[in-house]
Amino acid sequence: MVDYYKTFGPIYEPTNVIPTAGSSAALYIALASVLEEGDEVLMWSPSYRGHYRILEEMGVKASVAPLSQETGYHPDLDTLEDYISPDTKAVLICNPNNPTGTVFTRKELEGIGKIAIDYDLTVFSDEIYLHFVYDDNEFVATSTLKGLKERTINIMSFSKTFSMTGWRLGYVIVPERYLDKANKINGLVAPRPATFVYAAGTAALRGSMSYVEERRQAYDERRRYFCKAIDGLDGLSCHLFEGAFYAWINARSYGLGSEEFVKRFQEAENVGLSPGNMFGVNTDGYIRVPLVQPVPVLKDVVTRLDRFLGTL
Ligand SMILES: Cc1ncc(COP(=O)(O)O)c(C=O)c1O
Repeated sequence: MVDYYKTFGPIYEPTNVIPTAGSSAALYIALASVLEEGDEVLMWSPSYRGHYRILEEMGVKASVAPLSQETGYHPDLDTLEDYISPDTKAVLICNPNNPTGTVFTRKELEGIGKIAIDYDLTVFSDEIYLHFVYDDNEFVATSTLKGLKERTINIMSFSKTFSMTGWRLGYVIVPERYLDKANKINGLVAPRPATFVYAAGTAALRGSMSYVEERRQAYDERRRYFCKAIDGLDGLSCHLFEGAFYAWINARSYGLGSEEFVKRFQEAENVGLSPGNMFGVNTDGYIRVPLVQPVPVLKDVVTRLDRFLGTL
């Protein structure tokens, strides 16, 4: 894992890497190694539901800055400090972001990093979609930026990179200052994946990465088709996302709210989508579609959506 990670990030010792049962466990170990009840974490909305849920469970407050459609779902560095309070202990970045696909630019990460250093914050960097980046966008590992390696905990997974979701394999890369605590928590809650799963993970990491590039190209083809097709439907809009593999659709013009829209569409057309309101604040009326099916299936989804919209 260390050899693999150093192709994008800094060099770590094997002892800094803790294998986990998927990145969900990695996230928990990372957050619980640093945060306590009553602390605050700077993060963005929309973002992955699992992030909010762990924090909620821990009694940690999410201080949420917007990634809005108007700013192309990129953070506004000028207002970031408004989201810091004396209780803020950390910043949680999801790069590329689920569900907006935002690929944080180097400049944005440097801006966030400066705030982390100025306010002595830990940085959690969930990078599980790092291979799925399109067009001219470039994935930058947070921990490569000046002064950030020693305060950044990286959350990684085999689920997306190698489509190995069911194997439950991920890892957390922990710098020295948090390592003792992380090892302790790992020992208590998630003592290591099964040995045969390690063998599968090793085979994936040592094998050709051409599989990953094939996946990236397949997602890229789907994203180009689907986002354009959705944009062409009455009352919906969908930006051509930069990374990960989720279409983030604005369906607000129908005034239904995410859950009602998804429920009615499922009843009418037997297709399940994710209600956008699960992904943070000010997200109601959005719908998330994971582009994990090939283009012919997505075409069918578009036909069904079009038919459904005609009934509203
Ligand atoms: C941003 C992000 N982090 C973590 C996870 C958890 O993935 P896993 O536990 O399968 O590694 C997901 C799953 O969708 C995700 O989108």
